[in-house]
Amino acid sequence: MEKQLEELKQTFSEELLLLHSPDDIEPMRVKYLGRKGALTSILRLMGSLDPKDRPRMGSLSNALKVYMEEALADKLEGLRRGSVFKGIDVTLPGRAPSKGCVHIINQVVSELEEIFLSLGFNIASGPEVEDDYHNFEALNIPEHHPARDMQDTFYFSNDVLLRTHTSPVQIRVMEKSGLPVRIIAPGKVYRCDSDVSHTPMFHQIEGLWVEKGITFRHLKGVLYEFIHTLFGHDIPLRLRPSFFPFTEPSAEVDMGCIICKGKGCRVCKNSGWLEILGCGMVDPEVYTYVDIDPGSVTGFAFGLGVERVAMLKYGIDDIRMFFDNDLRFLRQFS
Ligand code: PHE
Repeated sequence: MEKQLEELKQTFSEELLLLHSPDDIEPMRVKYLGRKGALTSILRLMGSLDPKDRPRMGSLSNALKVYMEEALADKLEGLRRGSVFKGIDVTLPGRAPSKGCVHIINQVVSELEEIFLSLGFNIASGPEVEDDYHNFEALNIPEHHPARDMQDTFYFSNDVLLRTHTSPVQIRVMEKSGLPVRIIAPGKVYRCDSDVSHTPMFHQIEGLWVEKGITFRHLKGVLYEFIHTLFGHDIPLRLRPSFFPFTEPSAEVDMGCIICKGKGCRVCKNSGWLEILGCGMVDPEVYTYVDIDPGSVTGFAFGLGVERVAMLKYGIDDIRMFFDNDLRFLRQFS
């Protein structure tokens, strides 16, 4: 009889799990606990038991009866609340998983990459932890240059540092792949600097095109096309002479201030112009570091700050906003 009680408990529990409506509870109760129910029929056998076994069987079957009654009541309550699980109300509205989005800086990087890919450039990359040779020496940056100062560069040791610009990728690409080279290299760069327009880490995109017959006109054509695609074809542009140790001649490209349309404002410091990138023809001296005969090719290089482009494009006046991780700011670009 004990075995029968156990089997009955088992089938009862399994059957209970399958009920899905409060209306199923009463028929189930009748089936097990009713006058002709399964438990009742087992209890009828009590009389045939050895009298000394009767008390134990009596209390076992009573416990099963209580168990069944409670289980049925619980189940009924659960089904009435619309829940099959104790303690979980599945009728409550769900919490939607929150969706992330691509960081605004990465969105701008992708947009800039698209433009250069369409102009025939490939994408290259290099390490953020650089050596002095690639970051400075091979780029013709002399020993006394202020960029080499501890105050501007994060050093790990005398020779190892966080790259201060993406220009070392120029050297790495020319060392490795044969000519011609037509690459852009987007990435993080680091300088010991912090205020409204400087953060210790920011992003640059380097560009390098080295091939027989490349002239300053190619430089101007590519860079003007790039800026016009980005900011619109009616934006005025100008090339202003400048200096970089690894380009000769060097220039900076200015575009008419998009905030005041050239009238003069705080952003353009009343000049009507905004500096957007640095560029120049690769200094022949640089070729000698990468075993290219300086007489055999010419090329141009440029470097631009991604945050600066993003600030101008979206009218953001504090570069630190990009890295504060304030979701109220970041979500505006999702
Ligand atoms: N590397 C320079 C900088 O960080 C930018 C640059 C790159 C200028 C390539 C000329 C050519 O300021």
